[in-house]
Amino acid sequence: MNQDAIFQTLLRTMQSAYSTNTEMMGFAPFPNDIIRQDVIPYHCNCSAYFQSDIRLISKNYSELQNAISTASKLVHWRETYKGSDIGNYFMDRFGCYCILGENAPFSSDVLRLFMVYMPSGLYYPWHHHPAEEMYMVVSGGAIFKQSDCPDKLLSEGEVAFHASNQPHAMETTEDPVLCLVAWRDNFQTPPVLTPNTKFSVR
Ligand SMILES: [Fe+2]
Repeated sequence: MNQDAIFQTLLRTMQSAYSTNTEMMGFAPFPNDIIRQDVIPYHCNCSAYFQSDIRLISKNYSELQNAISTASKLVHWRETYKGSDIGNYFMDRFGCYCILGENAPFSSDVLRLFMVYMPSGLYYPWHHHPAEEMYMVVSGGAIFKQSDCPDKLLSEGEVAFHASNQPHAMETTEDPVLCLVAWRDNFQTPPVLTPNTKFSVR
């Protein structure tokens, strides 16, 4: 497959998974203003970590997982927390690239879409951002934490909603997790670690 075919497969499988999830569609309809754009590849340690994780297995979204994996060699991996106190252990393992948005193969004026990956046994400390957010688990599972709510263990097909600037965190135990993440409104401001929380990075 050439690069364009790889990205079109990514878009098609992502749209299929998104559009068949009632909660994602309730969060925001799948955009109809999507434009293909050039992306300058950028890799970091986390991309290799994701590509070598054989424990990610999806029952219902295997096509999307495969498409995310294939496209992962051609995309711009993000280092969202570079320069923060989060530490190299987390930076080397937490994976994220944008599929719809800036430095991504596709753009839209109304929505951002990302892939987020965490291997087993990783803690993603408390953070927040102005954009409203919905996570959908594509494969594996994780404990989702948000302020003023009980922790939730989510697995494939389940979602977590984070309100604007609501602190949230995430932890994997035995399984890794791969998620599709949607942002709406105020998506120009990147996430920041939430001050005055205990950063139990392991
Ligand atoms: Fe978030």
